[in-house]
Amino acid sequence: MPDSYLWWQKGVVYQIYPRSYQDSNGDGVGDLNGIRQRLDYLQALGVDAIWLSPIYPSPMADFGYDIADYVDIDPVFGTLAEFDALLADIHGRGMKLLLDFVPNHTSEEHAWFKESRQSRTNPKADWYIWKDPAADGGPPNNWLSSFGGSGWQYDDVRKQYYYHAFLKEQPDLNWRNPAVQDAMLDVMRFWLDRGVDGFRIDVIWHLIKDEDFRANPPNPDYDPNTGEQNKLLTTYTTDRPEVHQVIGRMRKLLDEYHERMMVGEIYLPVQKLVTYYGTGGDGVNLPFNFQLITLPWKASVIRNAVDSYEAALPDHGWPNWVLGNHDNHRLQTRIGAEQARVAAMLLLTLRGTPTLYYGDEIGMHDIEVPPELVQDPFEKKQPGKGLGRDPERSPMQWDASTNAGFSTARPWLPLPPDAVQVNVAAQDQNDDSMLTYYRHLLALRRQEPALAVGSYHDFGTPEQVFGYTRSYEGRRLLVLLNFSADTQPVEHGHLLHGQVLLSTLKPRIGIQANGDFTLQPHEGVVILLADR
Ligand code: GLC
Repeated sequence: MPDSYLWWQKGVVYQIYPRSYQDSNGDGVGDLNGIRQRLDYLQALGVDAIWLSPIYPSPMADFGYDIADYVDIDPVFGTLAEFDALLADIHGRGMKLLLDFVPNHTSEEHAWFKESRQSRTNPKADWYIWKDPAADGGPPNNWLSSFGGSGWQYDDVRKQYYYHAFLKEQPDLNWRNPAVQDAMLDVMRFWLDRGVDGFRIDVIWHLIKDEDFRANPPNPDYDPNTGEQNKLLTTYTTDRPEVHQVIGRMRKLLDEYHERMMVGEIYLPVQKLVTYYGTGGDGVNLPFNFQLITLPWKASVIRNAVDSYEAALPDHGWPNWVLGNHDNHRLQTRIGAEQARVAAMLLLTLRGTPTLYYGDEIGMHDIEVPPELVQDPFEKKQPGKGLGRDPERSPMQWDASTNAGFSTARPWLPLPPDAVQVNVAAQDQNDDSMLTYYRHLLALRRQEPALAVGSYHDFGTPEQVFGYTRSYEGRRLLVLLNFSADTQPVEHGHLLHGQVLLSTLKPRIGIQANGDFTLQPHEGVVILLADR
């Protein structure tokens, strides 16, 4: 692999939701020692970096995204010593570790908030977003919580409201206050000094809110089925221009260290998303690109998205792609098992850093969660709308034993009935399994620098097919992806000569393309083009 690219440009990131990966102490919840036990698996899979969703002390109102102490580990996950041991093992294998940093809000249990809510004059009085009631005693303005309902919570002691973009248990920090910025940079420094390789930064586009507290405008396209949080646009609560200054400070800190990085969670249209790369050296290294999750799964749509994204990237901007995470329905549930293979090929052959979500590599799908087992606060606040995130957060399915080898105790979320068939052990030695296919894809990406860092060109293909070439130092690979359930002939005369290196359908590996190539239903192929 060429050395002029950084590890986070060449590498593949794998997201672990720690509650659900591996329980080592029999309490039904995953932990750090459990993850440590599974490093052989991750190394054999062929991923380069692990991103852990939050592991800090937390009342778990939002399962760790409500942090009560930024510089410790929640006992449910382990201890700082166990964290250090995990990090050392990851590094010992030549892998990297990204932590989830949640700067927009703390838990209401954080010492800073406990102090802040005590009076209007205490030293941390201005560390959160406090505001007097409106004339009628109600909330200061119409800002909403992303989980639904008002974003303002009245506090009886201060006789003021505080703003929370998410749960009322997650008060937003006041990032306009330089003391808050300094304290949070210290938190980053704490983990960087411990050796972490970077951060995934939670809701980074939310950090700064309008100074004048202007009312958010109504959403003209509001569809109640998507949840009441969408009634208004978030014009004055997200993507404020001053957020880039704050990001600049974080980047400056990261760049004091060797090859550290940050990837920002940002749900915005591409033209706005790319502004988070900054102007060169002052933005996030990667603003998460979620288009493969949010767009309809159609060849023409995806092709257009890839081409426009490539065109929109600034010169200093390295691309990235994501197929799944802990906030969205599982890939397999969204597009089905056959297209999930096509999608994996797309993710791992596009230009840019891919992020995988644990369990997708064995074809895990959303689980059904009966009402009495619901955990996610989003589902509890707006039940029955399909907004809940428990379905995609179920325990990793390791084998056919009790609780799928995840835990000796009843897991915090249920396992699906088909975990007996869909698991790592069952797929490990099976040539045709999803897991074997993923391993081949990841190995191919590692073997062929063209796939990781080569140039990208749209290949011009029929309506239902997305095709592109990736080239590096004279070696050209052609990727053809059939998004349909029909066979699709692709003709390209002298341009289409070569050999299939990998197919979503195993028996097709090795066949030749001689001027044309007919894709089977739901087939994706990587063809090594002949030099002619
Ligand atoms: C991010 C996280 C999500 C969490 C929210 C509030 O979107 O990915 O899981 O609920 O932030 O922290």
